[in-house]
Order: sequence, then C-alpha cells, then structure tokens
Amino acid sequence: MSKQKIRPGKKIAGVVELPGDKSISHRYAILGALAEGTTEISNYASAADCRSTLKCLERLGVKSDSKDRVVRIHGCGLDGLKAPRRTLDAENSGTTIRLLTGVLAGQSFRSTITGDASLRRRPMRRILDPLAAMGAKIVPNDGGVAPLEIQGSTLHGIEYAPPVASAQVKSAVLLAGLFAEGETSVHEATSTRDHLEIALREFGAHVGSSNHVVRVAPRPRLLARAVTVPGDLSSAVFFIGAALVLPGSQIVIHNVGLNPTRSRILDVLISMGAPIHIASLQMRDGELVGDLSIEHATLTGGEISGPQVAELIDELPMLAALGPFTEQGIVIRDAKELRVKESDRIVAIAEALRRMGAQVEEFPDGLRVSGRSAGRLRGAKIDPRNDHRIAMAMAVAALGAEGDSVILDADCAAISFPEFFATLERLVER
Ligand code: S3P
Repeated sequence: MSKQKIRPGKKIAGVVELPGDKSISHRYAILGALAEGTTEISNYASAADCRSTLKCLERLGVKSDSKDRVVRIHGCGLDGLKAPRRTLDAENSGTTIRLLTGVLAGQSFRSTITGDASLRRRPMRRILDPLAAMGAKIVPNDGGVAPLEIQGSTLHGIEYAPPVASAQVKSAVLLAGLFAEGETSVHEATSTRDHLEIALREFGAHVGSSNHVVRVAPRPRLLARAVTVPGDLSSAVFFIGAALVLPGSQIVIHNVGLNPTRSRILDVLISMGAPIHIASLQMRDGELVGDLSIEHATLTGGEISGPQVAELIDELPMLAALGPFTEQGIVIRDAKELRVKESDRIVAIAEALRRMGAQVEEFPDGLRVSGRSAGRLRGAKIDPRNDHRIAMAMAVAALGAEGDSVILDADCAAISFPEFFATLERLVER
C-alpha cells in the first residue's frame, strides 16, 4: 500500500475543478438503471465507491459505458433487472449496499450483497427493520451485518420515522417504495441530504416533501435523462481546510454542489470567521451549484452539536483536524454516528491528531480538540485506518505542521477522491 509524504506548505493557491459528487452519482446510476432509455451522466464521480455501484448494477444486467467522466447507463426499466449469477460486492461503499438493498428487496429474484471487511462491520439493521416492515425477506449475517441474503418479495408502503438521521436509510426505504403497493413515506426528525428526492423528480417519479416528510408514489415510469453531477462539496472541504491552515492562501473552486442539505459546513466555517464567498449560483438538474472562493483566516473555533451534525457528518474529520489551528479549539458532540463510518472516526481522528502533538479529549459522541495555545502540530506517521476522509483530513493538518509527515495507506483516498494528493501537490506552494 502506498505511503504519502506530506511536507509543510507555505500557502495554497489556484483554481480547482472537483470530480462529481459521490452521493449524487450513486443515485443517478441507480435511477438510470431503473429508467427506460439511456441516461447520460456527465462528471460522474471518479470515487471508487461509485464504481462499486456500477459494478453491482452490471451484475444485475445493467450495461454502462464510460468515457471522459461521462457515464452512459443503458436503463432496463423498473422491472428489467436480472437475477445476478454472483454475489454483488459493494466493496467499501455504505451507500451502494444500503440503497441497492432497498431496490433488491422488491425484485422477483434472490440476490446476495456484501462488501469489504470494513463494510461487513457496519450496521445494517437500520435498513433491515423498515424494509422488513414493508414485507422484505432479508437475512443478514450474525449481528445484523453483511452479507445480506435478499429474497425479493411483494412489498407494501409504510410510514417510517428512522431512529437515526441517515440519508442512506431514507433512500433505501424510498427506493423500496418504488416497488411497493401504496405510498411510502419517511418522517425525518432531522433533515438529511435530499439528493434522491431531487433525482427521483428529475427522472419522472412523484415525490412530495413538506415538513420533514417525504412521500413517494409506487411504480413510477422513470425516463432516461442527461444529467450533470456537481463537484463534490465534501471533497472541496479539504482544500478549504488547507486554505484555512496556511496563511496567505487563496483558492477558487468551480462548480461545487451547494445543496442546502449539504452546505451546513460552509455556514459553520463562515460563523467561525472563514472568508468564503459564493458566486455564479445556478440550479442544474434540481441541484444548486456555484463557485467558491476562500482566503486564509484564523478561525475562532467553537462547538458543533445538535441537528446540524447530520448535515455535515462527512466534513467532521476535516473540521476536527482544523482544531489545532483555531483560537479556541473545536468541540464536536451528538456525533456518535462517526463511530460506524468507514472507520471509528472518533478514535481514528483522536489517535492521528495526538500523534501530531494535539491535545484531544474523546467523548462517546464526539471529541474536543484544543486550539492554537496547545502548541503547533509536529510532523508524524499517520495511520488513517483505511478511511479516505481521515487520510485527507490529516494530510491537510500535516501541511501546517512542523516537519514532514507520512500518511500510510494513502491510496485509500481513492474511495472518494482518487486525484486528491495530485491536486493538493499542484496547489501547495512551499
Ligand atoms: C450518504 C449518507 C451519509 C454519508 C455518506 C453518504 C449518502 O451516510 O455519511 O458518506 O450518499 O446517502 P448516513 O446516511 O449513514 O449518515
């Protein structure tokens, strides 16, 4: 596995175009597969996770081809998926396994879906419970984890209020609802990313949403579309982070997805003093897209807790790693979901930051990272625990440390952002 050496940087400067959003790419691929005709997805994510979705769809008889970041999905229609001859492998991708399980629950065939060692440890009861209430027949491995054996069956719509704030759970239930008898609704106490709802409408489904309730009507006729995926804000955040770490930095990021259910991280950073400006806002395929410009400033820091946590869950590793560069440090609470991501991110961040000399206190649902007065970070050897967001967040922190750092197994960044280290090297001045 590859090691990546990170030398301290002076500043970061330049213009960045980011690969397509991971969450949106998964959803376009799945809806493209269920639509009639050929869906053309421009700027499809280069993330390994989104390739996992395409590979699973291929085993279900969905043909696709790709060229220059344009993926064409030859849709089979709502009832056109075929029984897979082999187990479906979602590899490292929670979105792939959870969303496809929702689809597979309502088919007329049997299938098995699994993933890598990390994915086989992650909780699946959160989707199995609502799907069982819809009539699904799914047998998980001991402990409610993958592999999941799915005997497709007749489903009926339910009204469901998920006990955890999760877009993957909401999406699994809504996708199963496409194949159910009667309407399916999900009542969210805390709002989560709404890309599936937007994409379903774009592909022609009837989806209502109001007051935290999303309703989907069954058996829509989905029609193929040409869609463009916005740049991934969750990837943009690493460059925003680098600009906030290195004085004198100034960067522009083009065509970033700014869906309000994803952009909470910008509100938080701005409230802590980050000079972030948004320009060229437009709606594209139902998603808000724009350009960001960021300059360096020293953040005040502060606490992140409550309902907003679900809206910036993927950005918390970067935010925590900014802690040592802030005035007051960063406190994260109400984020126990971080423990069931690609790694236990609370443990992984605390361990990595401590190795660099940061003061970190761990809580069951978060952590406290002390600010600048605790001293400057020093270069260290970091084990990201095979978790892409830990590898990238720590690489950014390492730019502001004294002395060189090494990120072990750095190629895990490819799970969401294969071009990360090359892009960072291009932008950093030393
Ligand atoms: C995702 C939802 C989030 C997020 C993940 C992508 C999605 O997971 O962490 O990276 O595309 O629906 P949860 O729904 O489990 O919070």
